[in-house]
Amino acid sequence: MTMRSAVAIARGADGLASRCGAPNDGTAVVGAGIGLRLPHLLEVATRAPDAGWLEVHPENFLANPHAAELLREVARQRRVAMHSVGLSVGSATGIDRAHLGRLRRFFADIEPLFVSGHLAWSTYGDSYLNDLLPLPYDEESLRTVTSHVHEVQDALGRRYVVENPASYVGFGASTMTEVEFLAELASATGCGLLCDVSNVHVSAANMGYDAYAYIDAFPMHAVAEIHLGGFSVEADAASPDGEVLIDTHSAPIAPAVWDLYAHALRRFGPQPTLIEWDNDLPMLDTLVAEAARAEVVASSVANEVRRDAVAR
Ligand SMILES: [Fe+2]
Repeated sequence: MTMRSAVAIARGADGLASRCGAPNDGTAVVGAGIGLRLPHLLEVATRAPDAGWLEVHPENFLANPHAAELLREVARQRRVAMHSVGLSVGSATGIDRAHLGRLRRFFADIEPLFVSGHLAWSTYGDSYLNDLLPLPYDEESLRTVTSHVHEVQDALGRRYVVENPASYVGFGASTMTEVEFLAELASATGCGLLCDVSNVHVSAANMGYDAYAYIDAFPMHAVAEIHLGGFSVEADAASPDGEVLIDTHSAPIAPAVWDLYAHALRRFGPQPTLIEWDNDLPMLDTLVAEAARAEVVASSVANEVRRDAVAR
């Protein structure tokens, strides 16, 4: 059975609940999906591209009722995950409860497959910053993020999924690694973790650590989803190798990230995988082809694991 046919069965004619347990709990969905951005919305609604599932940024739809209605139509046929870029669970000044309320009402119509967001902050009081900013990994940050993830999960009535960020700077105040922080957070809140394999590659290159060791230490029991996205390379005189990797989501998945993805699947087992592409958006078929490649990698790893099990 291919990964895509597994998704087709999970979505099958008898309805989701009978095949997957609780509707939209995400646990039975394995396969590759694509990020759905507004320029592709009409095409996705009318053409139903061959991708296992879709993920959107809900903030793109909250002030766009026509797009929201079209998305509701799509969600009646396809499984749709929500990746919020505005919840700011790392903010020291608290969660924006009005925004949380808007998301809760929006999700009620869609019944998302997952609801996820970054381990980052983008608000300070009433100020909104159009960026995902880093935080030190220490006990104070852990208390802050734990409290906010509890608040999100209580308000939404579902598990939240937290994504490892792409990093460009670290904090001297950090007392634990990012993986240790995520493990503590998952343990304290029961949240899921989204392992963005491209972010691991970008962060490892920028911060000077081993991407494979990061995956080996990642709390695999909490993994709910994987992201793959493209990055760009820019000159950086302050960097020892003269360059910095930027998580631009504007390019095909790099060969090194495909290799790291295979390593992650060997350790985590099959996982729902999402192709992220936000800038310099290509034709929809390019995203679908990247998703198909992710499924080929996943099938290859699954076969390899089966062969190893038989040989033992
Ligand atoms: Fe991501």
